[in-house]
Amino acid sequence: MSTRGAAMRKQQKPLVIAIDGPAASGKSTLAEKLAQRLGFFYFDTGVMYRAATLAAMKDLGGVEDEKAVTRLTAAVQIDVRPPSVEDGRVMDVLLNGEDVTWEIRTPEVDRNVSPVSAYEGVRTILTNRQRDIGMRGNMVMVGRDIGTVVFPDARYKIYLEASPEERARRRLKEMQLRGETHSFEEVLQSIIRRDGIDSTRQHAPLKPAVDAVIIDTDGKSIEEVLEETLAIVQP
Ligand code: CDP
Repeated sequence: MSTRGAAMRKQQKPLVIAIDGPAASGKSTLAEKLAQRLGFFYFDTGVMYRAATLAAMKDLGGVEDEKAVTRLTAAVQIDVRPPSVEDGRVMDVLLNGEDVTWEIRTPEVDRNVSPVSAYEGVRTILTNRQRDIGMRGNMVMVGRDIGTVVFPDARYKIYLEASPEERARRRLKEMQLRGETHSFEEVLQSIIRRDGIDSTRQHAPLKPAVDAVIIDTDGKSIEEVLEETLAIVQP
């Protein structure tokens, strides 16, 4: 290929900032603020796995049947759009046109989402949809495998870490703000269990890309993490 052709191809690559990390590591909060500061789109890929899980719980009564869950994932429509209600949401999540923004955040979905995310067929379907969306460019994408699998060529890759206890404290606070009461121990165990499944699964396990910048967020404020990230993406 000519040098000009190669240069043009390079230019056409979408600008993606990948933010990965374990449950409740602060990815969504950071990505949302980062997108705001840069004037980028914010796309949380976890909502797709959550919506597919909810669909299986509703239509199949459970998530154990891998083939049925995969077929269902291929058939359902999952959409995200700007928030239509001012109730703390950062976007609307629609499952076959129905608003499921809060329904995908219940402890039942939390419990079932990691097994569903370990199904290879489900990952292939959702990874392809995520790539299509990411191709629009100027995108801050959040997940577990954005830098390793979905966009291994992403311009910037950030991997957030924090201790399970710190993450459980953050998640508990989020739940309390929504008026839900859970014990610290319950939330901590749910996070540890989900991390275990996400990191040891065969397909696209949770791990930092070799070229990701790892940020340990323990004891840091959102603003501190945001400044650290801005220094990486706007050197
Ligand atoms: O908000 P939180 O970090 O707790 O979870 P999430 O980002 O909403 O993701 C929910 C689940 O979806 C994770 O525990 C993973 O099992 C799965 N997931 C994934 O496998 N790959 C992604 N790119 C995003 C989420």
